Amino acid sequence: MKLSDLKPNVYPTDLLEDCTSGLCLFGAGFYGANDAIHMHNANISHVTVVDTDTEKLAVMSSMYGPGWILILNDVTTWVPNIANSGVLSWDIVSVDAPANMFDWCWNNIDLLCALANKYVVLTTYDSMVDRWVNTDEWRFVAIYSRSSKELISLMVLERNSCLN
Ligand SMILES: C[S@@+](CC[C@H](N)C(=O)[O-])C[C@H]1O[C@@H](n2cnc3c(N)ncnc32)[C@H](O)[C@@H]1O
Repeated sequence: MKLSDLKPNVYPTDLLEDCTSGLCLFGAGFYGANDAIHMHNANISHVTVVDTDTEKLAVMSSMYGPGWILILNDVTTWVPNIANSGVLSWDIVSVDAPANMFDWCWNNIDLLCALANKYVVLTTYDSMVDRWVNTDEWRFVAIYSRSSKELISLMVLERNSCLN
């Protein structure tokens, strides 16, 4: 498997222009075709990928090079630990969960936002989008259809301090 074998999926690549770090949660399923490949192509210098799939993470380590941090861990424990420690954050956080975990993501959206300096890109059923409520810190800025058949989209949230 090589980077050139991947078929990059829809992603809000324009956001990456003002990002220097990225976190791909649930990042290994398609070897990064949904999100990591876009960060690679945008020359994001600090990228961290978290997934429970040992084999795919191992393949990705040879695809993306030594500068990438690939973490074998369960997002449902890793995210609360890191968010509550308040030490680490990334400019853009992609949350590309399998559909059976969309509900977990919505139930933990505050923790997911706490990890991001600028943007959160959340994969979700369209029917769940109205669970979002803008806050003093975060607002919903865009939505991109990923699968019109399954009614799945990428929802883009932006930290208000990014406003010019
Ligand atoms: C839709 S795929 C992600 C595709 C990935 N973003 C890409 O571009 O290749 C979902 C991924 O979630 C991972 N996964 C499922 N449950 C997980 C959990 N609790 N913690 C971490 N990863 C998990 C699976 O191993 C799978 O790789």
